This record gives sequence, C-alpha cells and structure tokens, in this order.
Amino acid sequence: MDCNSKKPMLGFSPELFEERRKKVFSKLDNSVLLLSSGSVKKKSRDIEIPFRPDSDFFYLTGLCEPECVALLRPNGSDGDLILFVPARDMDKEIWIGERMGPSEIKEQFGATEVYERHQLDQYLPSLLSDVDKIYFRIGSDRHVQDLVLSSISSAHLPKTRGSGRLEGILEPGYLLDEMRLFKDAEELDHIRKAALITSESFEEMVTYCRPGAGEWELEAALEFGFRRRGASGAAYPTIVGSGANSCVLHYSDNARRMGEGDLVLVDGGAEYNLYAGDMTRTFPVSGTFSSIQKAVYEIVAGAYKCAIEHLEPGVTLADIHQKTVGNLADGLLDLGVLEGSTEEILEKGSYKTFFPHQTSHWLGLDVHDVGDYVKEGSSRVLEPGMVLTVEPGLYFPPSTKTLEDFFCIGVRIEDDFLITDNGCELMTSPLPVSAEEVESLMGA
Ligand code: GLY
Ligand code: MN
Ligand code: MN
Repeated sequence: MDCNSKKPMLGFSPELFEERRKKVFSKLDNSVLLLSSGSVKKKSRDIEIPFRPDSDFFYLTGLCEPECVALLRPNGSDGDLILFVPARDMDKEIWIGERMGPSEIKEQFGATEVYERHQLDQYLPSLLSDVDKIYFRIGSDRHVQDLVLSSISSAHLPKTRGSGRLEGILEPGYLLDEMRLFKDAEELDHIRKAALITSESFEEMVTYCRPGAGEWELEAALEFGFRRRGASGAAYPTIVGSGANSCVLHYSDNARRMGEGDLVLVDGGAEYNLYAGDMTRTFPVSGTFSSIQKAVYEIVAGAYKCAIEHLEPGVTLADIHQKTVGNLADGLLDLGVLEGSTEEILEKGSYKTFFPHQTSHWLGLDVHDVGDYVKEGSSRVLEPGMVLTVEPGLYFPPSTKTLEDFFCIGVRIEDDFLITDNGCELMTSPLPVSAEEVESLMGA
C-alpha cells in the first residue's frame, strides 16, 4: 500500500521487473538507460511531501526510495542493473524509520551491483564511455544530468574522429512508453483495485452532498474513502467544482459552499500501489436536476454510452472521439446552442467551445499515462491490454456570453476501461450514469 522500503516492490513479483528489464536489454544494443527515482520535495521549511518514485524507475526496478539511480546496460545475452542508492543514515532513521542499505537492496531487487549514491561521480563516467546512446530524461535529476554532460564531454569528444562517437541522449520513453501502454496481469489487478476503490468511495461520498456543504467536504469524504480502503491517497488533486466551478476543467481549490440548485462535478481517483483510478460524476446538489441541467446531462450521458458501445479492438481513438463529438454536436443543436448541421459543427469544430478536451487518455502508473496517441500519422488503433478513460463533457462557463440559461452548467462523466480480446471491461464498478439513476442515488 504505502511506498515503504521495508515492503519491497509493493506486492508485485520480482520476476515481473526482471522480465521488463529483459525486454529493455534486448533493445539497448550498445546503449544504456539511466533513470532517477527522484528527490523528496519540501512542502514548507523542513516538512517533506510524501515521496513517490518516478514511474519509469519503479516500472523497471520495483524500488520506491528517493535519490536512487538505476543504470541498465546490455551484457552478453542478458544485461546488468546497476543501482546507486543512499547510504544508510542512522541519525535520520531515528526520525523516518529503518531503511534498506545497498546490500539488502542488491539481494532483494536483483541488481548486478549496488553502490552508494555518492559513488555515482566516481563510476558514472566510465559506465558512460563507449556507449552509442544514453537514454536519460533531461531535467529529471540535475546532479545526474551534470554528470552525464561532463562524462560525455570528457569520454566522447576526443573520439569524434574515430569510433565511439556518442549518437545522442534520448528520451527513455522511446524504450518504455510502448511497453507501459500494454498492461500485464499484475498491473491490471492493481488498476482494477484503484478503480474499484475509486468507485466505492464515490458512492459513499455522495451522501455528503447537500446545499450549504463545502466542496472541501466532498473532497474529504472521497479521499477518506480512498485511504479507508487501503489506497495511498489521491492519484491527482481531487476536483470538486460546484456552480461555475463545474466548468473549470482542472479546478482543485474546492473552496466554495454548494448552493441549492447547483450542479457539482467530482473528478477523483485513488492511487493504489502507484496505479491510478480516474472517475467523474456530476450530481445535482439538491437531489434533482433542473430541466435545463437534465437536458445537458442527458446529452453527455448519451455521448458516454455511445462511446463505450464502440470500445473494442480495431477501433481508433479518433473513432471514439468522433462518436462522442457527433453526439454532443447533435445535442447542442437540439438545445439551440449551436446552429446549422451536425456536419458543419464537426467541420468547424464549434462544439469545442463547450467540449474543449479529448474523450480519452491512457491510464496506468500515471493518470495521463504514457503511450503514443498517434502512430505512423494515424490515430492509435485500440488493442487488448490498453487501459483508457472515456470522459465526455459539456461546459457552459459564464464566459460563454450568449447562453445565460446554461450558465454554470458543467457536466462530465468518466470511467476507466480495459480493452479486451473482444470488447472492453469496465474497471470502475458501475455507478449510475443516467439522470434518473443519479437522482435516485442522491435520494437514497
Ligand atoms: N482528472 C484528470 C482527467 O480526468 O483527465
Ligand atoms: Mn481522466
Ligand atoms: Mn478525471
């Protein structure tokens, strides 16, 4: 559950990380991959924000400690994992608890070699000499970056007339994004758990929704549900937007009291063993939708249902988005918000005033997970093992000046899906989507 070095790999099997590294080794040729776990950030003077490791670093090592560096390099038919980890600090451990030292980490994490972090300066230059490419994310770790730059200028520049010329420093995503896009069975179990915790907590949170309650109360109720069910917390800042705030896509102040007759849009997701859930529902604060809120809500619910009916292998992300915007455009015409024909609206993109985002994103270790949305110039074809959200919405912020009747209506409905061999699996547990079901959930 929590990212504690005494619970290595968060319950994942060590073979999983080994298998992933094998795939990377087979793609490395004469190159190396260098990843930092990240540093502890400060909230205020000497107060630290709970640490979460870099997703790529965790994906290949299973290690959740700050200030670690992993170097992967091919070696014969296999490869080496060389780790640099902080030395044990007994004074610090009085405050933060026991940590693993290099020898324990070497044994538990299947590393070829584990050094103390301060030895990086000594070893990294020779580890980087004579390699063709260095996969390293610029900006991810200033100390490592400085070392990489000084190493390559001393180790590679003199050889620019002969062999041993460095071809470049490349983004690790070239090696890892495509692997991470296709989830394995263990990852899927963790995403299912994150999604289940998320939806169960949503159901519980609804009971706190009433006029006069603060948006922050729904945030607290939702996140209490996450923690109570064993999640490490929220995967991203919880969005509780009522009234005009429902139209702010990533609103997270959650500082307004909800009023009679408002809508409230709640977008939250639990993080379970570093994997994210991501769900949105929109509720009428008083328990029933006004007729105009209901009309907008039902258009979004219709777009959601149409999109998920088409979610299966072979379909592209663009197909799903087109189904969604087609529905939304028809709805905007019916409401009298837009004029002309569906085709004109789609061609001009005039629906974007009210639906400015995409229908889906990948989901995994990162909420907006890695993976190309376009491949060889075309929209990505869905394949089994991909996990994504479906999240249509319509938003009428007060800045949409001509539409006073619709002011402050913001609606989004979002769930998480796994593409299976012949369709899709809803990963969040079913929570009402239709307006009637939402009203009866509120009543209950
Ligand atoms: N919560 C961010 C998103 O739904 O994409
Ligand atoms: Mn989302
Ligand atoms: Mn969301």
